[in-house]
Amino acid sequence: MTGIRNDQQWWNRFWDEKARTRVGLEPGQDDSTWFGLVWSVALEYLQDLFDRRAPGKSLLESGCGSARVSRHMALSGGYDCTMLDYSRPALQLAVSGFAESGLPGRFLVGDINHLCFEDGRFDVAYCGGVIEFFSDIRAPIREMVRVLKPGGVFAATIVPRKFSVQTIADWERTAAYSMNNILKRNFREAFKRARSIPPDYAVSSAPLEGYVAACRDAGLVDVVGLCATPFPALALPRFGQKYYARLMKAMKPAWRRFNRSQSRFSKRWGMSYVIHGIKGPLKP
Ligand SMILES: C[S@@+](CC[C@H](N)C(=O)[O-])C[C@H]1O[C@@H](n2cnc3c(N)ncnc32)[C@H](O)[C@@H]1O
Repeated sequence: MTGIRNDQQWWNRFWDEKARTRVGLEPGQDDSTWFGLVWSVALEYLQDLFDRRAPGKSLLESGCGSARVSRHMALSGGYDCTMLDYSRPALQLAVSGFAESGLPGRFLVGDINHLCFEDGRFDVAYCGGVIEFFSDIRAPIREMVRVLKPGGVFAATIVPRKFSVQTIADWERTAAYSMNNILKRNFREAFKRARSIPPDYAVSSAPLEGYVAACRDAGLVDVVGLCATPFPALALPRFGQKYYARLMKAMKPAWRRFNRSQSRFSKRWGMSYVIHGIKGPLKP
């Protein structure tokens, strides 16, 4: 995963490859892997937020990729989803995922920085894993807030470049990677360092406070910025992954508390950001 730039062709190739391998395309309720658990905790949080705070059920997901979040919201929450991405192969996956689940949805090729919708159209505007790819994180936030109804909910999940528990866990992944390559006598690969976010992966290192300020400047109130995900991805053998997933699952109540805590510890330790706010005025 090196050499990533936020360019359309790169994303087209990325989604073509996903379509071929089908890895990581499910809505994300699989409690037997780190990946599935991270998604299940995130989806639970987002659905609770949308159900409690949104004035209605129309949802826009920008930079939707395979539309994992929209698919979950349509299935479990009855949301009326519009999905936008500038990659056609991504949208094809979104279309086939919705068709598989027998769900209606609208799918549009478009740019998150210039949305093709009138002001005040949606009850929820969500994007995941997108804003951190822009040098100006404010532009996509402003645009998504523009298309929200007053009282509508904006939310974004972000994987920033920051120190976190994953930075420490990357040493374990490096050791496992090296060992594996030494055993295979693949010495060229054996001494490379595994980094979950390689130096040339073009994600922003903007701090959580920067995202929160951008939300407020865009006209959101009740803005919340959380640092989430206390468990790192580890390179364990299959049986180890199974026990690790069991441990994480048993610790879900503490995990939820960590995500919501807004403590100094969670800001240092956590791997991802969740930001959300309401387009004023607030519901009475
Ligand atoms: C890391 S993927 C996230 C996909 C999905 N939201 C998820 O969480 O699985 C980032 C997505 O943003 C899309 N994207 C990047 N820049 C965009 C832009 N300017 N307008 C629309 N989509 C964009 C890419 O095509 C890609 O599908």
